[in-house]
Amino acid sequence: MNLSIPDHILSIKPYSPGKPLEELEREYGIGNSIKLASNENPLGPSPMAAEAIRCAIEKLNRYPDGSGHDLIKRISEKLEVRPENIVLGNGSDEIIGMLARLFLQPGDEAILPQPSFLMYDIMVRCSGAASVYIPLKSLSINLDGIKERITPKTRMVFVCNPNNPTGTVVSKKDFESFLKDIPQRVIIVVDEAYIEFVRDENFLDSVNYLDSDRALITLRTFSKAYGLAGLRIGYGIMPEEITGLLNRVRQPFNASLLAQIGACAALEDEVFLKKTINMVHEGLDFLHNALDRLGIEYFPTQANFFLIDVKKDADEVFENMLRQGVIIRSMRSYGYPEYIRVNVGLAEENVRFIKAIEKVIL
Ligand SMILES: Cc1ncc(COP(=O)(O)O)c(C=O)c1O
Repeated sequence: MNLSIPDHILSIKPYSPGKPLEELEREYGIGNSIKLASNENPLGPSPMAAEAIRCAIEKLNRYPDGSGHDLIKRISEKLEVRPENIVLGNGSDEIIGMLARLFLQPGDEAILPQPSFLMYDIMVRCSGAASVYIPLKSLSINLDGIKERITPKTRMVFVCNPNNPTGTVVSKKDFESFLKDIPQRVIIVVDEAYIEFVRDENFLDSVNYLDSDRALITLRTFSKAYGLAGLRIGYGIMPEEITGLLNRVRQPFNASLLAQIGACAALEDEVFLKKTINMVHEGLDFLHNALDRLGIEYFPTQANFFLIDVKKDADEVFENMLRQGVIIRSMRSYGYPEYIRVNVGLAEENVRFIKAIEKVIL
């Protein structure tokens, strides 16, 4: 076939998701395996969301509300912004894609921290623009480095806070001085997929900087703290002018009926949110103490995952952990050949992880 695919599409490496449990069990002939690789919520979905979805099944013959009215209203009340400032997405992934489609074209540059969430690069490339990578500094996003690299070609900047895969955050103070120095024409995307887990008192909530004169977009998701990764629902908060533009490139029914209903209920489910946050903080404390006892080096985090320096080939550690029935992520492809990333699991999963890592690396 001669499909004449443009080079910018051929340059994209397909996103490689965490290995699914079913695939591991099939390949290795084992049962009872655990997945600590995709920063998911191990408690399951919010029970209130699950119940609301069960009740809504009979409505599936209808299209969803294309304006997302009820969910947008609840989000706007919770965040104290106007409904006109919110756009829903089929996961926040979709909003990253919509923003790239809307703002980027060949010849433009987008600045990305490196390493960070891989979808930024994929979406930038899809639109034919170029990714410019600014390496992290001590595992944190280098805002000064980003600032210095801005040129007339720079159209968009991504800040992942907390950063995936390192779990580090940028401070309010650094972000404020960054905002002051970035030209108004540059679109700033702050991805806060893990914000609910941040313990740092000085944490940045970029929604506080929403301003009609500044192209600042905050991304949030129901995939992590609310336990709804499989439902695919996320949202962006931005000036009204940008929601108007995004609504031109958005598919009319991009947030499914069950996703809207489930997310509305999840927002009400404060008990589940609290339980999740406690589980993550207790799990991190347990894992860090256990690693300290074993003398295994790890890095502090503000998210529900963290990096471990295994001081060995991370791909091999990944393979050997699989044989123990534990799925984690090797950070080799992120530029850290001897680091792995693991997310907090249920208490018993955390114990299994510690037993397995002890066997595999010590
Ligand atoms: C930093 C970051 N942003 C966005 C996403 C995607 O979230 P969603 O499930 O809402 O598409 C992830 C998922 O892992 C992530 O780590």
